[in-house]
Amino acid sequence: MLPEAYAKLPAAAKKGFGNGKRACTGRHFAWQWAMVALVGVLRGVDLSMADEGYELQVEGAYNMRPKGFWVVGRKREEEEEEGRGE
Ligand code: HEM
Repeated sequence: MLPEAYAKLPAAAKKGFGNGKRACTGRHFAWQWAMVALVGVLRGVDLSMADEGYELQVEGAYNMRPKGFWVVGRKREEEEEEGRGE
């Protein structure tokens, strides 16, 4: 979702697992499985910098991230997948 569209949503819509007494009891389990699923996707992909000349600009405070940094994903070659338990 685009950042501007996300910012316009009501606060309650941004709590994916609910909140307070009725918050999702399976949220930690769900997060763990989300990580497992993400790794399952990423292990088939090679990531490289979209701009090789990128110079770090830090954005944010509590969750710092590189500003304007993009990566390109390409399908990993089959020979590189060997030895990964397949
Ligand atoms: C991505 C996965 C999941 C999402 C997005 C999600 C989201 C939610 C949301 C929005 C609620 C309602 C909270 C409220 O009423 O305010 C909820 C409740 C609940 N979820 Fe999940 N959930 C997920 C996975 C799971 C899993 C894996 C389990 C169990 C293993 C689980 C068990 C529950 C239970 C038991 C409730 C009712 C809690 C209560 O009303 O006391 N959820 N979930």
